[in-house]
Amino acid sequence: MMKKQFAILLLHLFCSAAFFPQGLARPWLQGFEDEEPQGFALPPIPSKVAKCLGDFHVEKKCVGAHPAKITFTNNCPYTVWPGTLTGGNRPQLSRTGFQLATKETQSLDAPAPFTGRFWGRTQCSTDSSGRFTCATGDCGSGQVSCNGAGGNPPVSLVEFTLAENNGQDFYDISLVDGFNVPVSVSPQGGSGNKCTTASCPGNVNSVCPTQLAVKGSDGSIIACKSACEEFNQPEYCCTGNFNTPETCKPTNYSMIFKNQCPQAYSYAYDDSSSTFSCSGGANYAITFCP
Ligand SMILES: *[C@@H]1O[C@H](CO)[C@@H](O)[C@H](O)[C@H]1NC(C)=O
Repeated sequence: MMKKQFAILLLHLFCSAAFFPQGLARPWLQGFEDEEPQGFALPPIPSKVAKCLGDFHVEKKCVGAHPAKITFTNNCPYTVWPGTLTGGNRPQLSRTGFQLATKETQSLDAPAPFTGRFWGRTQCSTDSSGRFTCATGDCGSGQVSCNGAGGNPPVSLVEFTLAENNGQDFYDISLVDGFNVPVSVSPQGGSGNKCTTASCPGNVNSVCPTQLAVKGSDGSIIACKSACEEFNQPEYCCTGNFNTPETCKPTNYSMIFKNQCPQAYSYAYDDSSSTFSCSGGANYAITFCP
């Protein structure tokens, strides 16, 4: 997971660098570069120029840093409790967990730049002492809000890196930490040839091998562990001698996930078929049981 995120970050930095080369090539600074002091504190820039064209110096005046709207819909025949986690030491979103009944839709704003993940919790309840817990995806907070904690694997994840200034967003569905609910993410607006729906519509629980299965109180399979989590072997976790895309290959276990959800990450280096991206300030719709 970390490797993949690092790879996406590198890709992101590469793209930014290619788009915004160092030096004086940034056209929106033309006429101002001579006034730019070394290091910090730009002179005032007319608001027309400071219009969010990608330069960090003008961030405070930036009028284009509008949030991405993330809309959650639950098409599952059961209630799902979405959780949200913001990474990169940025503040958490206005809501870090909420209840979403069957056929219900709710949305929240993710201010760009944003790195984080969303997931669904299932079979949640509050016990007699008032403690809220979920059979899958639980974040351990004891509340519906996750308050900066992530979901316990196995859990299907929707991962985002949203660029500021209508730049290039990256998103994916990851089953690297296992699977609990089918989920999809669809861009609304935005552009690019990978700016398409990423969907994991298959129910991995129904084909989960016994060794990887997590069973609920009624004995049914409610989540499916990754082989990495269960066996903790380098070939499944893409660690040690298997820590590159060339050496870490699909396994008979990861293929079980991939067959159900071809557009989702089934192991850490499953990038080619599983990375999606949009430019232009898209909004996104996340659907449980698409
Ligand atoms: C996957 O391969 C391993 C090693 O060859 C084998 O022990 C295991 O039973 C296989 N599992 C499945 C689900 O095919």
